[in-house]
Amino acid sequence: MRILVIGSGAREHAIITSLVSEEADHELIAAPGNAGIAAVVPVIALDTTNAAVVADFAFDNDIELVVIGPEAPLVAGVADAIRQRGIAVFGPGKAAAELEGSKAFAKRIMDAAGVPTGRAARSGTLEEAVAALDEFGAPYVVKADGLAAGKGVLVTEDREAAVAHAEYWLGHGPVLVEEFLAGQEVSLFVLSDGHNVLPLAPAQDYKRLLDDDRGPNTGGMGAYSPLPWLPDGFVDEIVETVALPTVRQLAEEQTPFIGLLYCGLIVTDAGVRVIEFNARFGDPETQVVLPRLVTPLSELLFAAATGRLGSMPLPEFSDDVALSVVLASEGYPEGAPTGRAITGIETAEAIHGVHVLHAATSLVDDTLIAIGGRVLNVVALGSDFTEARSRAYLALDAIELEGGQYRTDIASRVADE
Ligand code: AMP
Ligand code: GLY
Repeated sequence: MRILVIGSGAREHAIITSLVSEEADHELIAAPGNAGIAAVVPVIALDTTNAAVVADFAFDNDIELVVIGPEAPLVAGVADAIRQRGIAVFGPGKAAAELEGSKAFAKRIMDAAGVPTGRAARSGTLEEAVAALDEFGAPYVVKADGLAAGKGVLVTEDREAAVAHAEYWLGHGPVLVEEFLAGQEVSLFVLSDGHNVLPLAPAQDYKRLLDDDRGPNTGGMGAYSPLPWLPDGFVDEIVETVALPTVRQLAEEQTPFIGLLYCGLIVTDAGVRVIEFNARFGDPETQVVLPRLVTPLSELLFAAATGRLGSMPLPEFSDDVALSVVLASEGYPEGAPTGRAITGIETAEAIHGVHVLHAATSLVDDTLIAIGGRVLNVVALGSDFTEARSRAYLALDAIELEGGQYRTDIASRVADE
């Protein structure tokens, strides 16, 4: 199959790695890709949030399936334009992508579908926001309504900081004040063809910058899968109580969700609650879910894109466990110097069970350099988390990036150490 993958991060590198590993003879192209992706498949510099540009490219190049990685093209309507050309696309149209693009829209859909979530108040003024903060009490949760690249959410005990965050984001639009939910977080990816759904394996993301969940929120510093502590039947329960009602509600509203419904969940003492939906594969969870997937990824994505998930069996996963550790630049998430050299990837990948995915890299005059906050993902597989962790951290020892930082506790809660 001729497949175009849109995006430039480690998530897209993971998607491409899975597609390349299939026995099928796919022809792959990535836009815009990164240095790691370019080492595996041809890349093309496209303005990936310009719907007409991407749709024209797919049409002119006889692409049979487009896989959209990041949220920005989805919210910009890129999937609609491709679908209008009669090309299969894995990714929701603009209307259904509002599930991620607007937290208020997501809350409305959850209410209409009876999906369990925390209480939230949408505020257009500071007075409303402050009243909601005082009603829900500490810890305070304040979120920008629209896409904010991970910067819009603040969870804090400090009322003044919560008020200041609300005031800042009110300058961009409405904010949401939410009830604080305490518990373990779970990311569950659910494939949807608009009507039928199939779950992938659950994963856990590490959102905070520093060990022991300290420091600021980030785009994600690591992940592991599976989650051995989940109760039996967890995935089926989420499919029944969260994914299917949401997909049915969107179909009823004539905005079918075709793509990946990312269910961001918290397991509280009172039951599971949705904290957010995303309209695409999670990053860095994809990097630990896909290497364990035994079913060919292209078959699942194509079936979802063409309305045939109902006839597909449940995706199969290997018994191996996987963890991913993000190597970030100095200064992340505030900012990041660009141009620092990265070495040692070959030595790292020589370790059994280890592969390295690129998140923000570029090749300049034969030197691999960092060009963003999250630079690489070191992914390690193993028969258990103790083995996978020792492989991942040996690999990180081999990689040099001046000022590079990473968490040392990824998956430690599930390893016997
Ligand atoms: P979001 O962008 O909505 O996923 O929020 C980012 C992170 O903030 C989540 O992964 C949680 O760790 C935390 N968070 C968001 N909403 C809540 C909430 N209502 N209660 C507790 N933590 C939250
Ligand atoms: N891992 C969080 C996200 O992809 O939004």
